[in-house]
Amino acid sequence: MKRMLSGIKPTGQLHLGNYIGALRHFVASQDEYEMFAFIANLHCITVPQDPQELQKNLKDCVALYLACGLNPNKATIFLQTDVKEHAQLGFIMCCHTYMGELNRMTQFKDKQAKGEKNLSGGLYTYPSLMAADILLYSPDYVPVGEDQKQHVELTRDVAERMNNRYGQLFTVPEPLVAKVGARIMSLSDPTKKMSKSDETNKGCIYLLDDLKVARKKVMSAVTDSIGKVQYDPENQPGIANLMQILSSLSNNRSFADIEEEFKDQGYGVFKKAVADAVCNQLEQIQTRYKEIVESNLIEEVLTQGAQKACLIASAKLDQVQKAIGMEIIK
Ligand code: TYM
Repeated sequence: MKRMLSGIKPTGQLHLGNYIGALRHFVASQDEYEMFAFIANLHCITVPQDPQELQKNLKDCVALYLACGLNPNKATIFLQTDVKEHAQLGFIMCCHTYMGELNRMTQFKDKQAKGEKNLSGGLYTYPSLMAADILLYSPDYVPVGEDQKQHVELTRDVAERMNNRYGQLFTVPEPLVAKVGARIMSLSDPTKKMSKSDETNKGCIYLLDDLKVARKKVMSAVTDSIGKVQYDPENQPGIANLMQILSSLSNNRSFADIEEEFKDQGYGVFKKAVADAVCNQLEQIQTRYKEIVESNLIEEVLTQGAQKACLIASAKLDQVQKAIGMEIIK
């Protein structure tokens, strides 16, 4: 069985972009692949966090993994800091990543370009930690949204560099980026990615949004004055985004099929169909979420997941440190 690994950094509440671009693929892959899905809590603290809010977001993230359909008897679900090897291999990876490579990472460059003050060293080096997260488990594939592809490519470069230098240490993983839904855009500004740091809060649908609020966000999504439901991301980015959402939430229905259904309809009818699809999905997730947060499942799942992950991660770290010549007691 081929192995897959991915993670989410819950610096805020999980949103529809996380679900469509990443989480639903974890769920869809768990039967066919050996799936490792973790909660990247070290990555969370690369930006300032309120401790209480962080606690809530972490627990919600596990609950949402489960509520979206990840099955702990199939997938290994764990918290990054429960496996100490992430931080240790992270430092080793950092020492094998060039500053020139980190300087090219668009996420950091974007934050810097916005003039954000006091960016942390952790934020700058976080792609190296991400490389460690991945390489510890030797996955064949890493399913991610488009914005994370560059980081998986960096992971491949550093893995190859270390394999050349120390002998075969790492499986070089491939990023898996879906054709549709890998970059869900903000509903209030379809030229920007839907993201947790949406300040207006109108462009981002959170998985735990009240259904009425979610519906309103879709119904007031920014569109255009062309008035035709057709897939033209350049001239109609808002409509293209809503089509991606609808397709992703309805068994990857083709754009041609969606265009055909709404060809003589106004945007109001189309938006209502998108809102229905979004609200149906959220309702299912939220019903399961409520049951999960009232049970002891979160602790059980994390304990079981960490046990399995630790075995794999400690063996890999040991192999790497030996190959580098760092260990004395064998
Ligand atoms: P994060 O937490 O920003 O995002 C989690 C996943 O959701 C995808 N995503 C999106 N997909 C489509 N449309 C969007 N608007 C959208 N926004 C986010 C992301 O591409 C990602 O797949 N560094 C990672 C977490 C991480 C990780 C890893 C991932 C840490 N270590 C190892 C894979 C493997 C991050 O910040 O993702």
